[in-house]
Amino acid sequence: MNILVIGSGGREHALCWAVAKSPRLKTLYCAPGNGGVAGVAECINLDTDDHDAVVRFCRDREIALVVIGPEAPLVEGLADSLKAAGLTVFGPSASAAQLEGSKGFTKDLCAANNIPTAAYARFTEAAPALAYVRERGAPIVIKADGLAAGKGVTVAETEDQALAAVEACFAGSFGEAGAEVVIEECLVGEEASFFALVDGATALPLATAQDHKRVGDGDTGPNTGGMGAYSPAPVMTQALCERTMAEIIMPTVRAMANAGTPFKGVLFAGLMITETGPQLIEYNVRFGDPECQVLMMRLQSDFLAALEATAKGDLDGIDLVWREETALTVVMAAKGYPGAYDKGSMIAGLDDAGSPDDVEIFHAGTRREDGTVTAIGGRVLNVTALGPNVAAAQATAYEAVDRVDWPGGFCRRDIGYRAVARETSEM
Ligand code: AMP
Ligand code: GLY
Repeated sequence: MNILVIGSGGREHALCWAVAKSPRLKTLYCAPGNGGVAGVAECINLDTDDHDAVVRFCRDREIALVVIGPEAPLVEGLADSLKAAGLTVFGPSASAAQLEGSKGFTKDLCAANNIPTAAYARFTEAAPALAYVRERGAPIVIKADGLAAGKGVTVAETEDQALAAVEACFAGSFGEAGAEVVIEECLVGEEASFFALVDGATALPLATAQDHKRVGDGDTGPNTGGMGAYSPAPVMTQALCERTMAEIIMPTVRAMANAGTPFKGVLFAGLMITETGPQLIEYNVRFGDPECQVLMMRLQSDFLAALEATAKGDLDGIDLVWREETALTVVMAAKGYPGAYDKGSMIAGLDDAGSPDDVEIFHAGTRREDGTVTAIGGRVLNVTALGPNVAAAQATAYEAVDRVDWPGGFCRRDIGYRAVARETSEM
């Protein structure tokens, strides 16, 4: 079958890399892809805001399955347009993508279905929001309701920070996304990322992962899209995975189906593991980036079959097998990220760095021209390794990082440190 993957990140490179291994694949296209995707798929220029153009492309190339990577086209209804044209799509409808597109929508769904999450209130005006902050005090969490490219959340340590965050949202810092504000109780615990394929009715849990959101070593500095990740997440015991499925994922799947907006695609729950158990911080309606890279590294089964079964409502018969080993990925970013950064610096040494069997380098913001790879984005490479434990995967990943010749880039040197400490204390 011919497949079209939509997106340009490390997540989409990892998805293409996994799909490319399937015996069912004939031709793999990726729009727009990147310098690394070009090694496993045919990268094409396609304006994904132009839904008719995507439909025409799919008909021309006899695309049997479209896999939509990022959240923005999902929230904008690309899956709806493709399905209306008779195409098979992995990814939720715009109505179901509200789980990521509106934090208030998700909080109300949790409240109505007894799904454990932080206590909250929704506001469309500044004055009552400010009064609520003063009443509750700090620490407290302020969130723009809509999509804000991962920047719409302030975990305020002081009341002044919280008041300023509320003012900023209503002053238009996040545009339309901040027209409504959700204010939440601050949860305490360890975070983990939980993924399940969902075909509308059936949910199949995938492996667990943890990422590092802050730019600096020791989880310091500003938030980013994610500077590294590892799978499995040691904090997620079998019992916690079962509770997450029973208390969070399945009630959501049932509620969405009952509302006439069944969720199909991958449901990504950002969890806080608190003293009382898993609580939902937020939903995403797509794979995590860089979590997807470590999941794909551990997956042994035919992923294309699982994606197709999800899209067609046949998930019941699918069973996925994962390597026992740990996968760990280190993000290499352009100097300056997540602030302003230069584009166009050259990257060398990738073939050498990626040559060991237990290393895979997934590209994000790269372009390949005449054999030369240049950096054209903030997060640029995901240097990913497998190992018998976290410490070993970490050592292999950093050996590969050190063989990449890219003076314009930087990375954190401590990805996985909590998991390594946990491992060491258990030995
Ligand atoms: P989100 O964009 O909702 O994932 O939020 C970004 C980050 O803010 C999360 O990964 C958490 O680290 C933090 N966060 C969000 N909501 C809460 C909360 N209610 N309590 C504590 N931390 C939170
Ligand atoms: N790494 C977190 C995310 O993809 O949202």
